[in-house]
Amino acid sequence: MSIIQWTEAMSVGVEALDNDHKHLIHLINGLHYSDTGFFEVFNELLDYTCTHFEREENHLEAIGYPGLDGHRTQHDVFTNQVGAMLKRYREEGLSETDQSVSDFLWSWLKSHILIEDMKYAAWTKARHTL
Ligand SMILES: [Fe+2]
Repeated sequence: MSIIQWTEAMSVGVEALDNDHKHLIHLINGLHYSDTGFFEVFNELLDYTCTHFEREENHLEAIGYPGLDGHRTQHDVFTNQVGAMLKRYREEGLSETDQSVSDFLWSWLKSHILIEDMKYAAWTKARHTL
């Protein structure tokens, strides 16, 4: 997988959350393109994902977003999936050329931001233009 990038089309209109998304993308790139070991970066990615989801859910709660429960479920499913992947790779090892991890993480994050996160961004915008 080549280096992935955050684009303006991914902006949710909240700087702290955009910065989180940028950092997550940076970490996904780091899985295969940094000098730090794969598992260290993967651990950091899982940690930061949890921190980000919490921040995002707190924000959605604060603004009274009606889709919060469904959104939270998506976060929980992903966190569990990534935790299970990390455990499996720790136990079974990982080929250094294996790109499926970053491919999976990136395709999930990209579609989550562009579809699910955009729903709360659009809802917030619509509310402010009423
Ligand atoms: Fe989200």
